[in-house]
Order: sequence, then structure tokens, then C-alpha cells
Amino acid sequence: MKSDLDEAIMTQHTQPPTQHPEITHLLQERYGQDASYDIIDNPITRQILQHRSVRAFEATPLPDNLLTTLVTAAQAASSSSNLQSWSIVAITDKTHKDKLAVWANNQDFVRQAPLFLVWLADFSRAKHLTDKQPVPIDGTDYLESVILASIDTAIAAQNAALVAESLGLGVVYAGAIRSHINAIAEDLKLPPYVYPVFGMAIGYPSERVTTHIRPRLLQEAVLHNEYYDASAQHQAAETYNKVLDNFWKKQAIDHAVWTQHLVNRLGDVQKNNDARYALTETLRGLGFPLI
Ligand SMILES: Cc1cc2nc3c(=O)[nH]c(=O)nc-3n(C[C@H](O)[C@H](O)[C@H](O)COP(=O)(O)O)c2cc1C
Repeated sequence: MKSDLDEAIMTQHTQPPTQHPEITHLLQERYGQDASYDIIDNPITRQILQHRSVRAFEATPLPDNLLTTLVTAAQAASSSSNLQSWSIVAITDKTHKDKLAVWANNQDFVRQAPLFLVWLADFSRAKHLTDKQPVPIDGTDYLESVILASIDTAIAAQNAALVAESLGLGVVYAGAIRSHINAIAEDLKLPPYVYPVFGMAIGYPSERVTTHIRPRLLQEAVLHNEYYDASAQHQAAETYNKVLDNFWKKQAIDHAVWTQHLVNRLGDVQKNNDARYALTETLRGLGFPLI
């Protein structure tokens, strides 16, 4: 027997690719051009297509049950082998946020947002709960486990981000905290086998600042059929350079074109002495042997 959802999806598949004007508009914003992708329209795709990072917040207090809602959403995410290898530290205290803002490379949105979450890859819980076992618990000591816990943390965080956005809140990740992992680990009293993967600022978007959907590469740059094929990359990047340039110009922001941005962001990283690029050493210092 077909459910209502099955029926709805089948109807969407059999409909001619005339899209709802809102979807057409969202695709136009997302790709910065007429991208005639035929996508299935439902409240979740629409919600996701609306995403844009928000970096200016109102001081408006958040609903009392927001944090529990976000944690529930995060916990509903898939979890590698159900190890549930992540935790969150929720920070609302102004003085504490001020400290974190400095460690997030002084990004002011950390101060402004009423809620700042530090998302942790966490194997300390598994270690703690198994420390009396006769078997050595050494799976936690491999690079695989750091990757696993980091993946799970990101998946959980994105669930929370989408739910926050669906509630009219704005969200931005703060990977910059990885530049000051040791200071944050000490401040948050993190046990061994825990590291902060990224922060997330959450609040009502400032009414004084308009945020825009940031376009992405055309799908031919990221989607490969059957086998990896890089032949479309240069053309896609050239198109994207123009699209993103228009995006910055619309906002009167002087920004390097995207391929130059790749060079700026990834080139000669040691020159800035950013602790993010000494992560192996830092993680070992936090108790991950990384074998
Ligand atoms: C893991 C992660 C870390 C990020 N860290 C920062 C950050 O420290 N500061 C910042 O302004 N944006 C940060 N961002 C936001 C990205 O810059 C943003 O997602 C990207 O430019 C695309 O823009 P959009 O989110 O508006 O679509 C981060 C995003 C991710 C996924």
C-alpha cells in the first residue's frame, strides 16, 4: 500500500519540470544563473536551499527549549556504529563568549550570538565507560577514530543547524577555533580524547544586515557519473569566478575571485603560523595517539 508520502513523491516525479517560482528563484540564487536543475520540491529542500551563513545577530533571547531542540536534532543524526562520539559545550555567558570570540580569531559574531556551541569530537566517554574491560580499548587511538568522530560531529551539527534555520534563526560555523585548540581545551576543561572541531554561533539574524545566498559551483563540477572525471572543472570554475564576483559586487565587497581565493586560503599556509596546521601535534597533546 502506498503512503501519502510515496504518492506525493511519485506525483513530483511524474510532473513536468515546471518548477514553483520560489524554487526557480532559489536555484537562481544558489547558482547565480539560470540553473535549470529539476529538483523535487518539498518543505525540506526549500528550507535547505534557503541556507546562508549569518554573522550578525540581534540580542533577542532564544526560546527556553531551543537548546534541547537542537541537541535532539543533533542526536537524531546517523552515528558511525552508533558510537555517538561527540559532545557539545553550550556557552551563553557574555564573559565566556568574549573569551571564545578571541580564540575564534576575534570574529565578533561569537560575542553577538546569544548562543555559541562548541562541537567536540569525543572519545573520552567511550574510554571512560570501558576502562575496566580486560580488552585494551585501542580503536580510539587511530587516525580513523578522529576522522570518524569528526564526521559524526559534523553530521550532528548540521542537523542542529537546519533545525535552527527552520525556526527562523541564523547560524554560522566557526572553524577558526581550531587555531586555538589548546586554549579552548583548557578553558572548557576537556578530558583527553576530546577536541573542539568547530564552533557554531546561533541567534536571530540582525535586522540591520541583509545576508544573501552564496552561490555554488555548477553541479557538473561536483557530480561524477560512474567514474571521476575532472574535465569540466576549469570551465565550471571560470563560470563560477564570474558568478561569485557578481555576488560580491552586489554587496559592494571587494573580494578575490574564487580560484584566487583557493590560493589565498590554501597557499603557503605555514606563513601565518596558524596552529590549525600543526593539528597532528595538537591532537597528540590532547591524548589522541593518532596511530
Ligand atoms: C566547518 C566550517 C567552519 C566554518 N568556519 C567559519 C569561520 O570561522 N568564520 C566564518 O565567517 N565562516 C565560517 N564558515 C562558514 C563558511 O564560510 C560558509 O559556509 C561558506 O562561505 C559558504 O557560505 P554560506 O554558508 O553562506 O552558504 C565555516 C563553515 C564550515 C562548514
